[in-house]
Formats: sequence, structure tokens, C-alpha cells
Amino acid sequence: MSTPHEHVLIVDFGSQVTQLIARRLRESGIYCEVHPYNRLGDGFLDRFAPKAVILSGGPSSVHWDNSPRAPKAIFDLDVPILGICYGEQVICEQLGGKVQSSDSREFGRAEIEIIKDSPLFAGLSPVETVWMSHGDRVESLPGGFDVIARSQNAPYAAIADEARKIYAVQFHPEVVHTPCGAQILRNFTHGIAGLLGDWTMAAFRAEEIAKIRKQVGKGKVICGLSGGVDSSVVAVLLHEAIGDQLTCVFVDTGLMRANEADEVVSLFRDHYNIPLISVDAGDEFLDRLAGVSDPEKKRKIIGGLFIDIFDREASAVGGADFLAQGTLYPDVIESVSFDGGPSVTIKSHHNVGGLPERMKMKLVEPLRELFKDEVRALGRELGLNEQFVARHPFPGPGLAIRIPGEITPERVAILQKADAIYLDEIKKTGLYDDIWQAFAVLLPVRTVGVMGDERTYDYVLALRAVTSTDGMTADYFTFDHDVLGRMSTRIINEVRGINRVVYDITSKPPGTIEWE
Ligand code: XMP
Repeated sequence: MSTPHEHVLIVDFGSQVTQLIARRLRESGIYCEVHPYNRLGDGFLDRFAPKAVILSGGPSSVHWDNSPRAPKAIFDLDVPILGICYGEQVICEQLGGKVQSSDSREFGRAEIEIIKDSPLFAGLSPVETVWMSHGDRVESLPGGFDVIARSQNAPYAAIADEARKIYAVQFHPEVVHTPCGAQILRNFTHGIAGLLGDWTMAAFRAEEIAKIRKQVGKGKVICGLSGGVDSSVVAVLLHEAIGDQLTCVFVDTGLMRANEADEVVSLFRDHYNIPLISVDAGDEFLDRLAGVSDPEKKRKIIGGLFIDIFDREASAVGGADFLAQGTLYPDVIESVSFDGGPSVTIKSHHNVGGLPERMKMKLVEPLRELFKDEVRALGRELGLNEQFVARHPFPGPGLAIRIPGEITPERVAILQKADAIYLDEIKKTGLYDDIWQAFAVLLPVRTVGVMGDERTYDYVLALRAVTSTDGMTADYFTFDHDVLGRMSTRIINEVRGINRVVYDITSKPPGTIEWE
């Protein structure tokens, strides 16, 4: 916590959608942070001094042994409190009401009827659609509480102790399936808690620049630039804060998309005048990857080599005191999983993790309080070219994980050409911004075709496009068949080595976005 703004504490009980509460609040200009329910001790609440508290949903039942509770001190803060779903049950249970367990879960859309005037529902219609997802339900209320809304299956769909400004709802106002949800949260923060909502990107930019200057002093900072939106925004922000104390290192792995390396170098060196070392390491990467097919081995080789090269270049400029990284808020939240349990490694993601220990540098992470869409907003605030700001995410290991099997220079070149045509068609059709990520995958499979009168025996290319909000889950994108047909024809006609194109219709889960 590091901002002078009025801030709201979101206590996490482990719901899949807790982050959405934070997003909705930030969208209405409220600065907030998510903290696990069991990490609020040791004077944290005094230091954080929230102006309001939201208790999230969660997978537990208040009847389970050792199920989570809010620290009692939360109720002594004398600030407005809103409980959501499990948060409602916690409030009831802790303040003297009764929660009944139930074997049947209520899940999905429901209608609530507002039965008592409350500032929580200001501006809402008497009947509203909401998204319910709960098992247990409230049976009797703690003293001082009234029912303010009910639904067919939830007689206590919303309750309030207006005198103490404690509110609770059985449904999820943070999800888009509750159309009035943003208004309810706004009523809570702006109306009931009286917050101003003055968290803006312009304010963030100014505060963050002051913070960076204070942290770095006269030290030298080095920043790994990948061409992605996060590292680009970090570089421009740091340059504004500390000028030539910053050096960026761009490692061209030879596994970038077509023309990407040139675009990054010309934007940063020529347009922004940011000191930039560009390392052409394509041959080195391809040499180390020769003969390797296992996806995890590929990732490890690329991550390791990236660190070696970065380390080498950093020493060449006389070392640095700080390493700048584009860590985002979801990474911060995920790294303190609320039950402290280890999560399963599906893929080992490659970034510059491992560098700080090796190079004994301190970290500068100016984006660690932001969500991806806020990073884009900050990029726009900083005047960063739209071509960079709106760019689809691109993984660190690059095309290496889009060529299942062995990586050869020939395969990389084929994939770069095909991928460029695919993206070109998407842009021409005006769909680029509707898609979270689109890319082509070159399969290590050859099939028979016929072109003209000739038999061909060439590679298969898979096209992938997904919609998502954060990359954690994704749906495949639905193209018109005409559009897919046009893409396929162009790719087969223009790219030597491909004679068949297929479209991937797998969502995540069960698939992942990348193929490796
Ligand atoms: P998956 O394939 O895990 O991808 O569903 C989710 C998102 O993460 C990106 N991704 C990576 N990004 N280094 C990165 O910087 C990686 O190693 C990496 N692997 C996957 C992927 O492109 C998608 O946006």
C-alpha cells in the first residue's frame, strides 16, 4: 500500500472472482487492494487504514472446521463493510446470526426484489437480475440487521445494518452477469462510504514517477524490453522518471514475430531516445534449441539463455543497482495464494525471474498495483504508440512454443510468414481488438495436397484465436467461415511449405492458450 488516495480493503476468502471486485472498484476511480483474510495481523489494519472493507466470496462453508473468518478487528474499525456471498455468511455468523448449510447450491441468474429502501440500492429498479452462486444460506439475522432484498430461493438476498453501515449480499455484484452490480458497488463506495473516486491514471503516473525517483536515487536501472505492452510501459515510465539512468536491453531471440525486433528497436531508440542495447542472439538460441522437442526443456533453455545474455550485457554497461520488471497486480495476488498452498505448475513461464539474485539487484516494479487493462490505460496516458498499447500478448519463449517438435530456422521462417498473413487478415477484417490473442502454430506434421497438377507434401498450420479477460480462462473466437476461408487460401498460396490450414476450437480449460 503506497498511495495517498482513499483506499478500500478487499478481504479475500478465496473466490474465483475476487479480483473482479477490485477491477469494478478501480473502474469507478477507487483505489483498493486484495489481501487474504489470514494476512491481516501485525498492525496491518492500522497501517492500511481502509476507508471501507469488502469481504469476498469463497468456496468454504462457515460450518466447516477451521473455515475462514474475518479478524474481529475489522468490525471494530468503524468503517462501512460489505459482505459478498461467503462474506455475507461470515458477517452473519460472526455478528450473532445463523447460517444454515444446504446440500443444494443455487447457481446462476436470479431475480431479486428490493423490499426496503437502502442507499446500497440507490438508482436501482424494484426488481433486478443478479448472479447467485452459493450453497449455505442465512437463516436468521444478527441484531440490528434488516432484510433489504429477497429472491425466490434466498429470503435474505441482501441485508443491512444501516446504523453501523454494514451490508451484505448473497449474490455477486462484481460479475457482469449482475448488470446492476457496478452500481451497487459504487453506491457502497461513493454513496455509503463517501469516497471521492479520484484514482486516475494521470494521478497514478505522477505518484509513480515520484516513487521511482525516491527509490532509485542516483542508481542505475536496467530493464528487459520484450516489445510487449508491460515492459514497454515500464520503460517509458522509468525514462520519464530517471532519464539516462535507465538502460534497456532488448534480446532478439530470433523467435519473435515477423518485423517485431526492428519495430521495437526503432520505436525505443529512435522515437523515444531511450538508451537501448539490442542483442541479436537468434543464432545462439537456435543452436541451443537444436534437436530439442520437449516443451518444458525448450522453456528452460530459453529462460536460462535469456538470463545469461541479459547478465552479460548488464555487466558490459558497468552493472546496475536495480532491475525493472513489468510485474502486474494479478501476479502479486497469485503469488500469495490465500491458503498458502503450492499451485500446480502447468507451464513454467519465462520472464526475467532469477536475475535479481544472480545479479544482486533490487527490483523496481512500477506496475505491481495495476491490472492489464490499467497498464494499457497508463500506456495511453504516457502517449505510447497505439500499436504497442493494443498489441496482443506475446509469450517470452516466442515462436519456440508455437512450433511443437523440433525448432529449425526453416520452420521459424515459415511460421513468421504465415502468422503475419493471419494477423494482417484479422486487422483488415477489423477484428483485432475483439480478440485477446491470435496466432498461428506450425505443426510437425506433413500431409498430402495437390497444387496445380503437382502433388505436395507440406506442413499443417493451426490458427488460434481466443477471447479472454486475463488469460486465465479463454474461449475460442468464432470467425465467419468466409474469413477463415480467405485466411487459409492466402496462407497456402503465399507461404511455401504449408498446404493445409486448420482452426483450433478448444477453450481454456481444458486446453491452454498456447500449444506448449
Ligand atoms: P497459456 O498457454 O498458459 O497462456 O494458457 C496464458 C497466457 O500466458 C502467455 N504465456 C506466456 N507468457 N512467458 C510469457 O511471458 C511464457 O512462458 C508464457 N507462456 C504462456 C500466453 O501467450 C497467454 O497470453
